[in-house]
Amino acid sequence: MNEGRDRLVERITALKARRKAIILAHNYQLGEIQDIADFVGDSLELSQRAADSQAEVIIFCGVHFMAETAAILCPDKVVLLSHVHAGCPMADMVTAEALRQKKAEHPGATVVCYVNSSAEVKAESDVCCTSANALDLVRGLDSTEILFVPDKYLGHYVAAQTGKQMVLWPGYCPTHTRIQAADIARLKSQHPQAEVMVHPECRPDVIELADFVLSTGGMCRHARATAAREIIVGTEIGLVYRLRKENPEKVFIPISEQAICPTMKLTRLENVLWCLEEMSPRVEVPQETRLRAKAAVDKMLGG
Ligand code: 13P
Ligand code: SF4
Repeated sequence: MNEGRDRLVERITALKARRKAIILAHNYQLGEIQDIADFVGDSLELSQRAADSQAEVIIFCGVHFMAETAAILCPDKVVLLSHVHAGCPMADMVTAEALRQKKAEHPGATVVCYVNSSAEVKAESDVCCTSANALDLVRGLDSTEILFVPDKYLGHYVAAQTGKQMVLWPGYCPTHTRIQAADIARLKSQHPQAEVMVHPECRPDVIELADFVLSTGGMCRHARATAAREIIVGTEIGLVYRLRKENPEKVFIPISEQAICPTMKLTRLENVLWCLEEMSPRVEVPQETRLRAKAAVDKMLGG
């Protein structure tokens, strides 16, 4: 660490205590943010942490829908997003209005929304899921027809695994589409002993070549538990920082160095400090939307 960074971290730590704040960071955040966070995790783990936290202020280092989910769960806490422009392009691929129209075409369908969606879309949905629990949640549904938004690739994977009839929204993650099957084939020939783990936001032909399809939190657990020494990783590059930090004896090979989520990389230490100083940008959800969205999110958390 250099002196400037040390000083920033000191100021963040002091102000965080004064504000009774907690820093939650997603696994794709820059190393400098992961290193100062109180908790680093996947979307499900971060929602659980937010819901259980006793802090008065939550600084969410991630993207907007994650902070918004915390605001849905914790209306009495101040939820701050680390960078005002940190959105998720996939979440923006479905609006509540467009979803209402689709629901009218499928009146009997159960609507399952991926947590990568706005509060308004969650409010239009019956159940919310993350990549960690999508399979279990969908398996547990009685419905014969499921309308799944917005990720067509996660939806395709869930439909294939569960055998459920699913109508898929045409959304996708621009970062995960950079991960290509041809690169896995090349890396597997170079590292024949390596395991391959990928995120379910990847394309179907990529998922086909994987040994394990996991959320980012699932990848962290698997990396610790496996006897494999080499692991080929198909997700956003930020996770590799955490995998290497926690497993220095193992080798992690990203499928694509280009799998960078630009909005996840906006947050720097300065942004966290400014957030604490200015108590902004704050993320709030109007009460009527919040309560309807919370019903779907509670099911995601097992409630
Ligand atoms: P995880 O919930 O698996 O961390 O995924 C979040 C995400 O945005 C993946 O692109
Ligand atoms: Fe959204 Fe993809 Fe970035 Fe995840 S990696 S936050 S799905 S754009």
